[in-house]
Amino acid sequence: SETPLSRDQKLLAICELLNQQVSYYNWVGFYFANHDNKTLHLGPYVGAPTDHTVIPFGKGICGQVAESNANFVVPDVSAQDNYIACSFTVESEIVVPLFVNGKNIGQIDIDSHVIDPFTEADERFLEFVNQEVAKLF
Ligand code: SME
Repeated sequence: SETPLSRDQKLLAICELLNQQVSYYNWVGFYFANHDNKTLHLGPYVGAPTDHTVIPFGKGICGQVAESNANFVVPDVSAQDNYIACSFTVESEIVVPLFVNGKNIGQIDIDSHVIDPFTEADERFLEFVNQEVAKLF
């Protein structure tokens, strides 16, 4: 109880809280950018294990957000051609970039098992979460 939580432990706790408290947040994780080789690397997450621990910039929803620096809300993943399937149970996805001192260093990625659950309220909420996460860097 005396040992301070590491940053990754804090990020995992955030993932667990979001997954537990929002019924349609069924996979919650962070990816972090390596700008030297233009890849995203999976950080703390909760949900089904994924093979996609390294994603090149531009590939999938996550890789597109690494380049666009903008939120990406996907109401129905089956309608996306540049999409990386992590699980057949996933119907929708939201990715919100994580900025530290104005630089896009990664993102929070949330998958849902229902169609079209994400609203602008989710975007504003996850932007707030990421602003808090940015303070850990
Ligand atoms: N679906 C994402 C890949 C990451 S998994 O959702 C965990 C994408 O298309 O980038």
